Amino acid sequence: MWSCTPDPAKDGSLSDIPYAPHNKILEIPSHFPKMDIPSDNPTTEEGVLLGRHLFYDPILSADSTMSCSSCHIQSKNFTDGLPTSQGIDGINGRRSAMSLVNIGFVKVGFFWDGRSKTLEDQALAPVEDPVELHNHWGELIDKLKAHPTYPKLFREAFGIDHKDKITKELAAKAIAQFERTLISKDSKFDRWQQGIENLSDIELIGNGIYFDDDPDLPDGECGHCHNIPLAATDDYFNNGLFAAKSLTDFIDLGRGEVTKQLNDNGKFRAPTLRNIRHSAPYMHDGSLATFDEVLKHYNSGGKESVYKDKVLHKLGLDEFYLNCLSAFIDTFEDTTFLHNPEFSNPFK
Ligand code: HEC
Ligand code: HEC
Repeated sequence: MWSCTPDPAKDGSLSDIPYAPHNKILEIPSHFPKMDIPSDNPTTEEGVLLGRHLFYDPILSADSTMSCSSCHIQSKNFTDGLPTSQGIDGINGRRSAMSLVNIGFVKVGFFWDGRSKTLEDQALAPVEDPVELHNHWGELIDKLKAHPTYPKLFREAFGIDHKDKITKELAAKAIAQFERTLISKDSKFDRWQQGIENLSDIELIGNGIYFDDDPDLPDGECGHCHNIPLAATDDYFNNGLFAAKSLTDFIDLGRGEVTKQLNDNGKFRAPTLRNIRHSAPYMHDGSLATFDEVLKHYNSGGKESVYKDKVLHKLGLDEFYLNCLSAFIDTFEDTTFLHNPEFSNPFK
């Protein structure tokens, strides 16, 4: 329908739209580490809103069929439930989608091999990845400029005065802001840390095994590499998934691909165990289908290989101790995170 009011944005100018961003307070409990937020990308309500829209919008993929959320599904702890992910062309990638829970606390580098230094940098990758969204940023930016609502959202988040100033860097900044809000902090484990709730006797035995801190209990060694409170470590390890005879034997070199150091071949980042039951299948290649298989793997000490981490050994946990260990790991479960409406699809 024709309207008599001239469209103020017809020439692409956005300066009539107010720019007054509101600082977004991230609620981080006192037993958590500090979150490093880049000074040139402070978290604002408007930035997070834009980032959430981009995260869920299939406009990001070449054929408008997939978005970040196709592979990072909230109810699956922001993974896709597949051994390895499949992009828009139906091609399977070589790695399993990573959970984005507490992603803002990762300091050592993103992806299984840590090749991306910041979330801002990471967010640029999937759009052009041939086995993910297989798009071109240039084309995507043109679509965003011509879109009925995105120019306004970019103006409100970043104060640009013209839609031609929409860039991939701003889009990535907004996505990173949204990702920093993906904080899980309401598990039984957190309430225990805060002195609000007790663990059961079984869970306490599991805690002792997990951290090797009870001489009367067998050691589980998990705490070396999946440390609290995030149940992760900002470091790379070989956890014995492959029986390698030489350092060039690994199908996926992992960290070594990034550092080009032979000694880093076969090492991957130790990811979080929060909501781990919702993240199956497991490991960078999705090779372990169930959590029971994961426990079996570690209980056996992993595959025969001189390159696996020295911490790994045959644990010899019997069924009772394995049940205790899994009961403790289940205290990292936070179902409010999986259903938090702030993290959900804004188009629904
Ligand atoms: C086709 C499936 C797919 C799509 C689409 C996808 N991802 Fe991923 N994502 C993955 C896989 C697989 C990995 C691990 C890749 C690797 O380590 O090489 C990953 C890793 C990540 C990580 C690193 C997590 C960590 O702990 O280091 C972040 C962050 C992330 N994706 C965010 C996004 C964002 C933002 C988008 C949209 C712009 C997106 N992903 C689109 C599959 C996907
Ligand atoms: C030497 C360090 C180390 C120890 C000890 C260790 N892990 Fe891991 N864990 C890792 C690394 C590294 C990965 C990722 C490996 C990969 O994908 O190739 C991982 C992955 C996992 C995963 C899969 C995560 C996902 O998102 O797919 C689970 C579950 C897990 N570990 C549980 C445990 C449990 C339970 C224990 C104790 C019995 C334990 N880990 C001990 C380093 C370790």
